[in-house]
Amino acid sequence: MSGKTYQWHKIAESEAELDFGPNELAVANLDGKSICVGRHKGALFAFAHKCPHAGGLLAEGFIDALGNVVCPLHRYKFNMANGRNVSGEGYYLKHWPVELRESGVYVGVEDKGLFSFFSRNPH
Ligand code: FES
Repeated sequence: MSGKTYQWHKIAESEAELDFGPNELAVANLDGKSICVGRHKGALFAFAHKCPHAGGLLAEGFIDALGNVVCPLHRYKFNMANGRNVSGEGYYLKHWPVELRESGVYVGVEDKGLFSFFSRNPH
């Protein structure tokens, strides 16, 4: 158990509403901020809009056969599921869990707010 709690934010009414390009990447809005959504073998992955290396727009890159997103600027590769920089440059891609529900597509943001701090520290 990770003990993590998430707040789920709706990013689209349905998967079809996400504006996937032919590269299976889309830009979505998470609470006023742009994020990137990738689709690989029917699964959805949410991660940062900008590459952690030098800010390349990941939605303009592509997804390789193994399900890594490849940045359009310098071709660093990141595993969409866990954010690992699989091409080995030592960066880390921020990413969030995605849930497809009947009521829409949701992205989970880890709850690190004051409330969760106090609720875990009862004194
Ligand atoms: S900006 Fe993405 S690899 Fe350099």
